[in-house]
Amino acid sequence: MVLLSGPNLSGNELKYIKDCIDTGWVSSVGSYVTDLENSVSKYVGSKYAVAMSSGTTALHLSLKILNIRKDDYVIAPNLTFIATLNAIKYTNANPILIDVDEKSWQMNLDLLEKFLNNKTRQVNGKCTYKEDGKIIKAIVAVHVLGNMCDMLRLVKICEAYNILLIEDAAESLGSKFKGKHSGTFGNVGCFSFNGNKIITCGGGGMIVTNDENIAKKAKHLSTQAKADSFEYFHDEIGYNYRLTNVSAAIGLAQMEQLDKFIKNKHYIKDFYINSFRNIGDITFQAINDDVFSNWWLFTIRSKKQKSLLESLNKNKLQSRPFWIPMNNLPMFKEDLYVTEENISNLIYKSALSIPCSTNINQEELLRVVECIKKEF
Ligand SMILES: Cc1ncc(COP(=O)(O)O)c(C=O)c1O
Repeated sequence: MVLLSGPNLSGNELKYIKDCIDTGWVSSVGSYVTDLENSVSKYVGSKYAVAMSSGTTALHLSLKILNIRKDDYVIAPNLTFIATLNAIKYTNANPILIDVDEKSWQMNLDLLEKFLNNKTRQVNGKCTYKEDGKIIKAIVAVHVLGNMCDMLRLVKICEAYNILLIEDAAESLGSKFKGKHSGTFGNVGCFSFNGNKIITCGGGGMIVTNDENIAKKAKHLSTQAKADSFEYFHDEIGYNYRLTNVSAAIGLAQMEQLDKFIKNKHYIKDFYINSFRNIGDITFQAINDDVFSNWWLFTIRSKKQKSLLESLNKNKLQSRPFWIPMNNLPMFKEDLYVTEENISNLIYKSALSIPCSTNINQEELLRVVECIKKEF
C-alpha cells in the first residue's frame, strides 16, 4: 500500500530513542521533552511551548486554561477533524459551527462577522448570544490541511467582539500567514504530532503561547497539578497529558528534518497540480497570496470522488474522503450551524486526499496520476 501520509523516520530517530533507553529516561521527564519544546518555540517564534500527549489533549487543556466551561459557546468551523469539537465538548461548552469558504476550505470570515454582528450583543465587555444570553467565549480557528484564513482579519474580529482565539494548528506546522507562523496569532496554538502529520512523535502535541501564565498552567495541569516537588500535594484536578521522553526524542529528530519535509510536500503539490491541471473537473484548495502553506495533505475535488476513491484504494494507493461535516454528526445535530449555502457539505461530497507522504517516490506519484487520469 502506498500510504496517504505516512511517517518518514529517516533521521536521528533511532539514535535519540537509543539514548533514552541507554540512560533510562523513557517517561514524562527528560531532556528530549525540553529540547523539543525549545525547538518548536524557536521554529514558530513563540515565547513558550509545552509538550502534550496529543493534539487533542493540547486543545482540551488550552480551552480549560482559558476558562471555557459549561454554558459557554465556542465558535468553530463546520469542516474540521472531530478532535476540535470533542475538546470543546470535554469542557461542557457548546460549539457554534460556522460554514467554510468554498475556495480555501477555512472558516468563512464573512459569515462569522455577519453572525457576530446580527446575533450577538456585548454585555459587561462580554460577547453574548442574543437568543439565550450565554457567553461566546472563544473561537477555535482550524488551519485545514495547512492552509490558513485571513488571520489578521480574524484577530481583529476577536478583539472587536471580546472573544479569545485558539488556533487548532494540528495540521499546519510550517505554515505562515504574512510570514508569521500558524499557532502564534491567538492566545494559544495547538499542534499535533500524530503519525500522519508533517512531523510525528508516534503520538504527541504541543501548546504554544506568548503568555507565561498560560504556559505555566499548561505544564502544571498536564502533570497532574502536583504543586509540591516532594509531597504529593495537588492543588486542583489535573491530567496525565505530558509527552514522554521517548516520543519527544522522535519528535526532535523529526524537527531537524521539518524544512526538508515541507520542501517535499511542495514538490508533491507541484507535481500533482501540473499533472491534473486540465484533467476533467479536478480542482484544488486555493491558497491566498498571504499564506505559505505546508501543503500537509494533498486533496483534490471532483464529482467523480467516489469512483476515484474506489479505484485508488483498489490499486493500493491509500486515499481518503474528507471529514463528514460536524453538523451531520449525531453529537452536534442540535448545535447551531451558521451557513448560507452549506459549502461544507459540497466539499465533503467532492473532496478526496491522495498519497503525499514526504518519502513517496516518483514511480508512486506517477501511479497515482495514471490511476486518476484513467477515470476521466
Ligand atoms: C484539525 C485537527 N485537530 C486536532 C487533531 C488531533 O490531534 P491528535 O490526533 O494528535 O490528538 C487533528 C489530528 O489528528 C487534526 O487534524
